[in-house]
Amino acid sequence: MGLNWEFTGGETNLDHDEIEGLHIPLITTRAELDEHEQANIQRARIWLGKRKLKPADILTDTFIKRLHKEMYNEVWKWAGQFRKTEKNIGVDPVRIATDLRQLLDDARFWVAHTTYPPDEIAIRVKHRIVCIHCFANGNGRHSRMLADLLATALGQPSFTWGARTDLPDARDRYFDALRKADRGESAALIEFARS
Ligand SMILES: Nc1ncnc2c1ncn2[C@@H]1O[C@H](COP(=O)(O)OP(=O)(O)O)[C@@H](O)[C@H]1O
Ligand SMILES: [Mg+2]
Repeated sequence: MGLNWEFTGGETNLDHDEIEGLHIPLITTRAELDEHEQANIQRARIWLGKRKLKPADILTDTFIKRLHKEMYNEVWKWAGQFRKTEKNIGVDPVRIATDLRQLLDDARFWVAHTTYPPDEIAIRVKHRIVCIHCFANGNGRHSRMLADLLATALGQPSFTWGARTDLPDARDRYFDALRKADRGESAALIEFARS
């Protein structure tokens, strides 16, 4: 086990077995891990390519797992598999499958009945899925990719996640907005995602 770093706030901490699931044992620093994950995510974008996904294609547990697998399978052996351990964020691991199914049922209902505008549907799904925290790691990036796919499927452009402005501290603004969403106010997270 070469990987050894301190996790900072807002991160999932990995346990020993999960770190053992690293495909590339030569990774020893956080920066190297980020780089490999980033390259893997880039290949997932190519896999997604120009395929025209409809909301019904996206809002299934098969697709949710497949997306995580495509984003991380070159780095983590457990990519695309639900986590089996307790984390500092997320539900008890035994509840992941049912909580996710409930979320997907709700989301399909919101889409069918236009309960919320498209951006709000995408952001509500993003926030609830990251709160379930289906996987041992990569949930934040997976949830943002999912939100982008949903927004696109609902006829909107992809989100920009703080990249359109030169305001500093995008990460602080993101976590601020997440905490507001934790209290049930999704407007700040939508605004951040479109900024
Ligand atoms: N209070 C919170 N409310 C909602 N989501 C949170 C909160 N704290 C952290 N998160 C989410 O969890 C993510 C971290 O989980 P992790 O699995 O490590 O994802 P990643 O590896 O993609 O960063 C953050 O990026 C954020 O999206
Ligand atoms: Mg992480």
